[in-house]
Amino acid sequence: MEKDRKLIIAGNWKCNKTVAESVALVTDLKRDLASVKEVDIVVCPAFTALDAVSKATPDSNIRVGAQNMGENGYGAFTGEIAAGMLRDLSVRYVILGHSERREYQRETDAIVARKAAAAHAASLIPIVCVGETLGEREANITNEVVEKQVRGSLAGLSAEQVEGTIVAYEPVWAIGTGKTASSAQAQEVHAFIRKVVASLHGDAVARRVRIQYGGSVKASNARELMSQPDIDGALVGGASLEAKSFVDLIKNSI
Ligand code: PGA
Repeated sequence: MEKDRKLIIAGNWKCNKTVAESVALVTDLKRDLASVKEVDIVVCPAFTALDAVSKATPDSNIRVGAQNMGENGYGAFTGEIAAGMLRDLSVRYVILGHSERREYQRETDAIVARKAAAAHAASLIPIVCVGETLGEREANITNEVVEKQVRGSLAGLSAEQVEGTIVAYEPVWAIGTGKTASSAQAQEVHAFIRKVVASLHGDAVARRVRIQYGGSVKASNARELMSQPDIDGALVGGASLEAKSFVDLIKNSI
């Protein structure tokens, strides 16, 4: 289905792969996806492999993203990675507020918003993740939860910055579980997120912002999900760890 917004499909490799394994994977992807023009393709390796993966992709249609960054920039922040350091490695994207970080590192919407602002200030494109837990869905508060996360995580960004942000809707109960939201369930929340963005920054920004779906996306369900009017791509965990499954997923999305 034709959309004004270009699809963006990102592989989130999470805490997986050595440098050599990461380079081997991106080399295969480069070969097998060279002809794909219809989709913005992003891979997000661990910090330790960013430099090598970045150096393996300069003349390709594959862009590199990080999975997190510090909110403060350079300075006395032991263990952190500044946005400028990512830019220095030719990284273009950064995943922020993934549900695993919200859960294990206690990242809040306010932290995510500060990181998103720092990312934009360094000309990185943030991929801001939101999504409800199973308990929240069962309690029928999905919209409230997602609205609060969207408003809180984009707080302080200008209209132009929000338009240049990727929002990833990832129901927590669908991540790594094999349970995908049905395309209708996902579409409903995506349309709702677009409405929230419209209420913040107007219809034009809402029409242009790209909203990815994430949670057990694979080659077999990608086409149906991507054909929904408000789904503009995917954030992919498990199925991005091997070349064939990620390549098939992308080719099935076109
Ligand atoms: P999954 O992960 O595709 O393995 O469900 C998605 C994500 O966490 O971004």
